Amino acid sequence: MLGGDVVGAGRVSLLGAPGRPAVTGGQVAVRDYETADEASWLRCRVLAFLATSSYDDVWPVKRRTDLELVAAGGDGVVGVLDVSVPGEGAVVETVAVHPDHQRRGVATALLGEAVRRLARCGVRTLEVSVREDEPVLSWLARNGFVETSRSLHVYASEDEVGTVVSARYGLTPVGAFLHARIERETELRQRFERVHVCRGMVRGLV
Ligand SMILES: CC(C)(COP(=O)(O)OP(=O)(O)OC[C@H]1O[C@@H](n2cnc3c(N)ncnc32)[C@H](O)[C@@H]1OP(=O)(O)O)[C@@H](O)C(=O)NCCC(=O)NCCS
Repeated sequence: MLGGDVVGAGRVSLLGAPGRPAVTGGQVAVRDYETADEASWLRCRVLAFLATSSYDDVWPVKRRTDLELVAAGGDGVVGVLDVSVPGEGAVVETVAVHPDHQRRGVATALLGEAVRRLARCGVRTLEVSVREDEPVLSWLARNGFVETSRSLHVYASEDEVGTVVSARYGLTPVGAFLHARIERETELRQRFERVHVCRGMVRGLV
């Protein structure tokens, strides 16, 4: 379990750093997410995801998590890191850096601040699930994450979905998103055009 002060203190504020923004260099500083950041946060996320295999994972509203950090400067939010903390194992829900600000240490600065706070709260591990996008795989390896599991994410198109999904109530499936075990990769790649390998990655914090 997390330390008593963390559990008792609620979601964002307990993990918050009292008054000390972590600076990444230039005009960008790491700080806690504020509700006024929402539009800028959503733009940053969607633009970062556009060049990845999660290009269509668009959120119109921010989902709240236990630890919410942003890297922000004059242009608004340029990097985001959201972590949920169900217990001793924390989970990265989102890490994304605006394409115009990538490869300048923004994500590393966000992670560094998160790791400091989580370790202080007694969290022992940090996990993340990612697809086969080289930038994030390289970034995770560089930051000490190792692969612990693999599974498949399968998107069935309108032409493909009829072979695997049927619907009731007069509905016609026009697409589906499905999970599968990694052992089915060869077979599923033959049947479906869009198949992603999803890797579980983890690093220790203590
Ligand atoms: C992964 C991501 C967050 C990294 O952010 P970043 O601020 O550019 O990363 P940093 O500057 O802190 O770290 C740079 C390191 O990350 C890796 N990296 C970042 N972009 C890369 C790229 N385009 N190609 C290869 N490696 C890359 C490299 O190891 C790089 O080190 P190097 O520049 O010395 O080679 C960013 O690429 C991103 O937003 N990707 C899209 C969103 C995403 O896939 N999120 C994960 C799912 S939640």
